[in-house]
Amino acid sequence: MSSKTTIDIPEALLEDFNTYSTHEIMDICMFNDIKDIEIDIGDVEGLRYFKARNLLKNPLGLRDFLQKFPAENKEKSALEGHSFSGSKSPGLQQPIERAFMGFMGYQIFNLCKQYSFLKYKEKSVSWKYYTNYYYNGMRSWNKNYLPHVDPFSYASNIFLTDSSEHGTSFFKYVDPVTEKSYYSMGDVMSSTQDIRDRYTKGLSDWYGYEVSDPDHPANKQGTGVMQCTNGDAPWVHYTGDDFYTRYHFLPSDFNSMSMYRGNRWHSATFNAQNSKTGRYSLVGCIL
Ligand SMILES: [Fe+2]
Repeated sequence: MSSKTTIDIPEALLEDFNTYSTHEIMDICMFNDIKDIEIDIGDVEGLRYFKARNLLKNPLGLRDFLQKFPAENKEKSALEGHSFSGSKSPGLQQPIERAFMGFMGYQIFNLCKQYSFLKYKEKSVSWKYYTNYYYNGMRSWNKNYLPHVDPFSYASNIFLTDSSEHGTSFFKYVDPVTEKSYYSMGDVMSSTQDIRDRYTKGLSDWYGYEVSDPDHPANKQGTGVMQCTNGDAPWVHYTGDDFYTRYHFLPSDFNSMSMYRGNRWHSATFNAQNSKTGRYSLVGCIL
């Protein structure tokens, strides 16, 4: 490289970095005293959930810290056909390096432990963090407002916007013949062939799901790997229908944390047509 080119390289300035000490990040993540945190633990139709309100001492400090991370524009990535996050969530998503969140994970784990919500040993818990931001006018991709299950065991969501009209909804499928309820794809798949067939037919009749990978081993069992392939469309404020019945709703109120097992059908509830605020949350997943 010539010296002339080197001279034109602008300085990397100290003030252009967002800098934090470890203690500053700990302050940003600090929970309130346990006596000041309002806890609601429930079991609804086998769904065990944990809801903590008035969680953080400085929720706006955490929000300010998180907003400075780069965000993937999921809509743009979907239209371009590549997403680095691999997640099907809409809106914006920010991967948050777990090294920043050591104290956060420690506190979530200990709060859950105090209330016997988690059975794991702390050493066996591995966290992954990202944020979701949903906003007015947000679009959907392949009907990603429909219920899904997570690829990890527990999900915690700390809400950093005043968005109590939004939240997380939990759904079941009730087989129309036997009237038996199912709470996940795994649940349906371990039932009988006629129930599986009615469920998969329902997916294509109701939502236009298609078998996307006919060579997948699941198809050999007659279950199929099915997904929507309609691509970009307006986001739907989905609260269930005659196929999926909503049986529980956890609101995303400011400075609260929802935690639940990800292996049951659920989806983000957000009204993108008429929302007073966005819905911004820090997601901590136990892998
Ligand atoms: Fe999820």
